[in-house]
Amino acid sequence: MGKDSRLMLPEGLHFGPLFDQEEVQMVSQVIKSGRLTQFSSDLVRKFEEAFADYVGASAAIAVNSGTASLHTVLTAAGIGSGDEVIVPAFTFIGTVGPIMQQQAIPVFADIEPETFCLAVEDAARKITLRTKAIMAVDMFGHPADLDPLRELAAEHDLLFIEDACQAHGARYKDMRLGNVADAACFSFYESKNMTTGEGGMVTTSDRQLAEICRAVRHQGEDTWGIIKRLGYNYRMTSLQAALGLVQLRKLDGFNEMRRHRAAIYTEALSDLDLQLPGEKPNAWSAFHVYSFLLPKRLASQRDEIVAQLKERGVPVGIAYPRPLYASPVFEHLKGPFHCPVTEDVCARVVTLPTRQSIPVDVAETIGAITRDVLREYLR
Ligand SMILES: Cc1ncc(COP(=O)(O)O)c(C=O)c1O
Repeated sequence: MGKDSRLMLPEGLHFGPLFDQEEVQMVSQVIKSGRLTQFSSDLVRKFEEAFADYVGASAAIAVNSGTASLHTVLTAAGIGSGDEVIVPAFTFIGTVGPIMQQQAIPVFADIEPETFCLAVEDAARKITLRTKAIMAVDMFGHPADLDPLRELAAEHDLLFIEDACQAHGARYKDMRLGNVADAACFSFYESKNMTTGEGGMVTTSDRQLAEICRAVRHQGEDTWGIIKRLGYNYRMTSLQAALGLVQLRKLDGFNEMRRHRAAIYTEALSDLDLQLPGEKPNAWSAFHVYSFLLPKRLASQRDEIVAQLKERGVPVGIAYPRPLYASPVFEHLKGPFHCPVTEDVCARVVTLPTRQSIPVDVAETIGAITRDVLREYLR
């Protein structure tokens, strides 16, 4: 790769989802049927059954976003005013917004330096008499260390929620995510490993929790005309479910494609002084994105490096640039939240896309240009 080579992508190119005639046909059939909702068609139920079966949970509840799936679980579990929920400080706002919407209090804990997932010891340190739940995030598709977290939650009689919004089809100890925590939550946003445009799913094997989640998703109503609690309109459309049914069948293949793109980046960058993403022996990552760390000495030049990569056409990002507690909306919370690993990772992280729609040769060029740019700094 020449020193000044650029990735020349057509103007306006968007690495969107991979669809083919199957999705087009399924969605066309729904449009032609005029049955667009959860109540007028059986597609949402079919998607739920297929998803529950895929993850090995006894129930799945489809909703209209990943955020809604988390909010549905918190509402159904009765987590509310003044209750504390332990969450990693390194995550997307969609993990934490629903906690705040319940007037509950997010208590930010640190992450593991290798996987960027919730650190069990720090979660344990942050438990108080007000703690009601632990929420772990399977960051960038890598499973959190679910067994010790589940044991910790059980020991303190806490609900254990898994934010698997980036980790469809990932595996922990050979089990697909979605049946280890008390409830797991998924997002089907366009950029996710499988998509319904927008959409989400709760999976659980707790029958009672599932029943209440179904009511919360539909205005709080479980029996026609009888409202025991207030809920929301978080219903998924049958257009989304039609897409989801097809995408779910392709998910394992999509994950292999994401892992292939990750392997291409690893091959390009492996001999540089970087911390590249890996997998714990008990994990199989869905590689939702590829986030690596610059060495500490380059942290102050991270923005310049990212700007250079962008200048040369690399679709690079920073996920995530600061701990969540550093955002103004959390200023009123009682800190300080001592999360040194999160702060260090936020200062050094650089993110490359792994989307299945990125052609292999483009991924190879992304890897090669990234290598060239970084080598200049790492001399
Ligand atoms: C870790 C995490 N949690 C929650 C969400 C929220 O999902 P959605 O955008 O579907 O509401 C996302 C979506 O990006 C996410 O990555």
